[in-house]
Amino acid sequence: MNPKTQESPLDDVNEIRRIDKSNMLSFSIEAAKHYNEATKISEKMSADFTKPENIVIAGMGGSAIGGELLKDYTRIQAPVPIEVSKDYTLPAYANRKTLVLAVSYSGDTEESLSAFLDAIKRQCTIYCISSGGTLLNFAEKLNVSFLRVPAGMPPRAALPYLLVPQLVLLEKMGLVSDVSEGLGEATKLLGKFSRENSPEKPVGKSLAKSLASGIHGTVPVVYGFGVYRGVAQRWKQQFNENSKVHAKWEVFPELNHNEIVGWEKADALAKQFSTVFLRDKNEPSEVRSRIEITKTLMPQNSKKFEVWAQGKSTLAKLLSTILMGDFISVYLAILRGVDPTPVQTIAMLKQKLGETGTKERIVRELEKLKPAQ
Ligand code: PA5
Repeated sequence: MNPKTQESPLDDVNEIRRIDKSNMLSFSIEAAKHYNEATKISEKMSADFTKPENIVIAGMGGSAIGGELLKDYTRIQAPVPIEVSKDYTLPAYANRKTLVLAVSYSGDTEESLSAFLDAIKRQCTIYCISSGGTLLNFAEKLNVSFLRVPAGMPPRAALPYLLVPQLVLLEKMGLVSDVSEGLGEATKLLGKFSRENSPEKPVGKSLAKSLASGIHGTVPVVYGFGVYRGVAQRWKQQFNENSKVHAKWEVFPELNHNEIVGWEKADALAKQFSTVFLRDKNEPSEVRSRIEITKTLMPQNSKKFEVWAQGKSTLAKLLSTILMGDFISVYLAILRGVDPTPVQTIAMLKQKLGETGTKERIVRELEKLKPAQ
């Protein structure tokens, strides 16, 4: 037996490949390429519509996280409110002055189709982003703007194709700036990250592998702040879907007003958690103080890690911190001996829901609609 295998499966490229059967790792290794392609595809989008009073991103799970990141990124720039709606209906205020970005990678998620139907009924301006499915069938039939992104990926791995078009569209609408520049820096940094955390790197030389090893056997808890709110959420989702573990995410300063109390008298339980603090050398001093004080108030025996954002632009920092989480979640899956790609329970749930007739009802309603002029 290879002695290295006994030490850590993460030091054995063949073992990594054997467990990662569907090659989820390739999406992290080739992240820069995917962001570049997504940028090219997004260039053909037209923002030829009246400036909206508000923006709603309608989607679920891996298709909604891009909206969460967009919301954080644009928060200090965009003059209009942006909300991510993860439900069958849109918020009550949605009307003809609302821009709805209907995002569903498969184009077949019933909540997203229902939200799309709701957006049509409310006469919102709609832009669909999807690889196809029922959503794009109806977008074509009903003259609704859409961007078709490459098919064949797990939705969560298609993040570049679901996020970049949203950023580019908002930049074209004049609602945010620095997107193109930020993406340029980000892709260079992502390439570097991918090399530094490639399957060939030994655990001691890869931050992603060493963090996965540290987290292994515990419940990951990810603490973000400000623009890293959606990043913390993404990490949690990737731990769930890739590593098949429970995970939690929280955000400063809010977590100081509830979450931290959960660490009181948690000595026995505390060692079952690993908290990852997302940090930025330019984090506001008030956040920095909170993080440092919070650490001192947490039990000594709970594991704590810090991941410091790299890069200059906000976008480069965001995307590279996301990539680090993606890598860690896949390496954690390897350590647990589980294939990161299949999400059996989600597939089973969707199959069972398919038997309830809800999607058919939504499709029947969509079929009754007339194309927009
Ligand atoms: O990551 C996943 O597979 C899920 O979270 C999906 O993204 C979610 O179920 C919605 O499906 P879709 O992205 O195809 O709309």
